[in-house]
Amino acid sequence: MSIGLSNSRIIAAYKERTKRSAELIADARKSFPSGITHDSRYLKPYGIYIEKAMGARKWDIDGNEYIDYFGGHGALMLGHNPPEVSKAVHEAYDEGTHFGANHPREVRWAQIVQELVPSAARVRFTSSGTEATHMALRLARAFTGKDKLIRYRTNFHGWHDHMTSGFSSHFDGKATPGVLPGLAEKIVLLPPGDVEATKETLERDPDIAAIILEPTGGLFGKVPVTTQFVSELRDITTKNDILLIFDEVVTGFRVSPTGFQGRHDIIPDLTTLAKILAGGLPGGAVVGREDILAALDFDAARRTDREKIQHQGTFNANPVSAAAGISTLNIVRHTNPCDIANDYGNRLRTLLNSVLKEESIPWAAYGEYSALHLFTNPDNYSIDPENFKANEYRYDQLIKQNGDVIQKLRLAMIINGVDFNGWPGAIISAAHTERELTDTASAFRESLSMLKNEQLI
Ligand SMILES: Cc1ncc(COP(=O)(O)O)c(C=O)c1O
Repeated sequence: MSIGLSNSRIIAAYKERTKRSAELIADARKSFPSGITHDSRYLKPYGIYIEKAMGARKWDIDGNEYIDYFGGHGALMLGHNPPEVSKAVHEAYDEGTHFGANHPREVRWAQIVQELVPSAARVRFTSSGTEATHMALRLARAFTGKDKLIRYRTNFHGWHDHMTSGFSSHFDGKATPGVLPGLAEKIVLLPPGDVEATKETLERDPDIAAIILEPTGGLFGKVPVTTQFVSELRDITTKNDILLIFDEVVTGFRVSPTGFQGRHDIIPDLTTLAKILAGGLPGGAVVGREDILAALDFDAARRTDREKIQHQGTFNANPVSAAAGISTLNIVRHTNPCDIANDYGNRLRTLLNSVLKEESIPWAAYGEYSALHLFTNPDNYSIDPENFKANEYRYDQLIKQNGDVIQKLRLAMIINGVDFNGWPGAIISAAHTERELTDTASAFRESLSMLKNEQLI
């Protein structure tokens, strides 16, 4: 029997260290549902309040220091507050935050995106990744004249109405609360990595406009797919004359400076970008073939006698985000922080697996590039942490959660100075160094021991 919420030493120690956060969440609950502003910040009994961050570290309002593995939900390839980006943002801010007009930085920003991202023949900036996938889908429908979209279970593409089923629930594709059933019916949800199911769907259904996927697999590889699968999708979509959309909101400028597509030379028709694109500030983009983005072009619409897709957005290509984006992407291009973060990812996964092995715990740290996913094995498979192959497990096995264990693990890691994200796992930046590597391994070992003391493992 595990120790419950009320008499858990982990919970008591957490509360002891985070008294000011406890006070603030009490106020926050009077303003926000659950006291939070993003679902993945939900943590019981409450999350920590951060007031300052630098490099790979951040500090809460109780004065505790943490190694950060949220990485701005993936937006911070260079860690917190890289000085060059910070300077560029301040300069842009001082010149004005919104001109209600074209401005030079948006052009430079788009040019760098085009130089880096192979599919970016044309660019349209949005304010978020959600807006980017929304526009990508609209472009695909307008271009093909077809209605439906193939998505893969567990792949996350933001929170607009077409993307809510099948990511963490509603794997049967039924509409989630507030979404029109008729709209959910236009989304075909398939098992991740299943080429045959994709081919069969396309043979059966002539109304598919496009396939969208996270090219490393759902949740940045928590449910991985092979590059071979992605490559086959490229062939199938070309053969069937439908569009392939890569959602590179996370993987863009992270897997490599040129994203997943540049690294593996598989070029989609459309790509959605956000996060690193805007250097830690709000921003997104849909980029892709000129003939597809022509649907946004006044002259092209007139020429082809097709109705233009409308697109407004008060903060599209905001000059301050543009400044952060230009500065960040220039650093990405010239110093390749992606390799540094990918290498750290490899070493951290290896290190944590050796801790698991030594502690005889049948969990595994896995993932690719700058992601670390922790498989906490709720069904007790026989696992050698050092030889775990996530590809051999189904998506439902990989995402199954033993909620109490994960909650206590995250709290224990916080107590030991590490803010693991809720996958559970880590998004790594180029600011993570040798010191963070050894500190994380020590915190992990200590946290496991705390979990053992509560008979959770
Ligand atoms: C792969 C992917 N697509 C789209 C989104 C949505 O982006 P945003 O949060 O900027 O709306 C996210 C956000 O985490 C994401 O990970």
